[in-house]
Amino acid sequence: MFKEFLDLGRHPIANAFIDEGDFKDEFLFDLKVCWDEETKLVSIKEFVEPERIFNEDYPYNTSNSFPMIEHFRNTAEMLKMKFKPRKVLEIGSNSGPFIENFNKEDSLCVEPCGNFAEVTENMGYKTHVDFWTTDLAEKIVKEDGYMDLIYAANCICHIHDLDDTFKAVKNILKPNGVFVFEDPSLLRILERGSYDQIYDEHPHIFSVTALDNLLRRNGLQIFKVDNLSVHGGSNRIYACHFDGITIGDSVKFNLNEESVFGINNFQTYEIFAERVANSKKKLVKLLKDLKSDGKKIMSIGATAKSTTVFNYCGIDNSLIDVITDTTIDKQGKCSPGMHIPIVAREDINILDYDYVYLGAWNFKDVIATKEKEFVENGGKFITHVPDVMVFS
Ligand code: TMP
Repeated sequence: MFKEFLDLGRHPIANAFIDEGDFKDEFLFDLKVCWDEETKLVSIKEFVEPERIFNEDYPYNTSNSFPMIEHFRNTAEMLKMKFKPRKVLEIGSNSGPFIENFNKEDSLCVEPCGNFAEVTENMGYKTHVDFWTTDLAEKIVKEDGYMDLIYAANCICHIHDLDDTFKAVKNILKPNGVFVFEDPSLLRILERGSYDQIYDEHPHIFSVTALDNLLRRNGLQIFKVDNLSVHGGSNRIYACHFDGITIGDSVKFNLNEESVFGINNFQTYEIFAERVANSKKKLVKLLKDLKSDGKKIMSIGATAKSTTVFNYCGIDNSLIDVITDTTIDKQGKCSPGMHIPIVAREDINILDYDYVYLGAWNFKDVIATKEKEFVENGGKFITHVPDVMVFS
């Protein structure tokens, strides 16, 4: 049974940065969150059709986040050392910062966003411009054979039908193959109150507990879990065919940690919902108080996460004047729903502002280091994670 625990109100597509002329036609949906008593999976209630999100206009370019390029290079090197894979498939390859570490002859990409599929195709990697399904897996087996390594980062939690997803992986994985995927961790979200990971692109938010249940029912098993700091706390899951392989201590550790936290109890989610409502009250009050004191506030990082926060809290450009972002495709557009203008960092003088809200709070240290001059001039940062606070 699905039990609803959080209602975040009406939301746009979190990464649909919008031109001024298109405000009238903006698509909105109800962002509500529920918990499945049977599998313990947390999902959004109303899924948005994937074609609306993942198409040739998809703006999130992983290669624009320098820390993420390094993350994928390190991950690829580690997986090569550990598993020595020959045939490699990446699901959701974006602009290729992971796959580029593997040879072109034996590596394949799956990417439904045409703009990014073109990038990896031009790099010389065979790329299927399609969604990951059992039908596509069958086609790939026929054309390219079975895989030693299937990798996906911040992608599996985007897919509605997880049974089909995991079946597709099982059907194409060699007997000794490994399936490695990483996505934001539900436990870290609950601990940190980072409700901004909830948006249309994340129809599911994974606990190791729920993944263990879902993978098992599709003939795969988790044998290792890495806890990562990326995206404010993610889990990298290693799974293989269900064949009695020794399950590592990291799996038991994570399942136990989640159980102790209360992942299996609905009350945990009700408590989280209360925390989210309080976070909204505090953030809105802080911004309004600063504005009435005549302070100027901007934001760094036009993230999907900040789309959730701004729309849930009703934060528009009467509170935050402008957002800067390093992604060229976002510059010159406005934030989804609340329509705050987005510009390049070079287009503003940060010293004109008193406060910077961290839309990309997961890159807090990188941003604080870059913006030393702002801090030295008395500038302060605002974040809502783990609690609404001001710091410098
Ligand atoms: P993410 O949190 O979903 O990875 O998105 C980070 C966004 O923030 C991405 O659009 C790039 C942007 N960004 C900046 O504008 N400045 C920065 O210093 C960093 C690290 C990211």
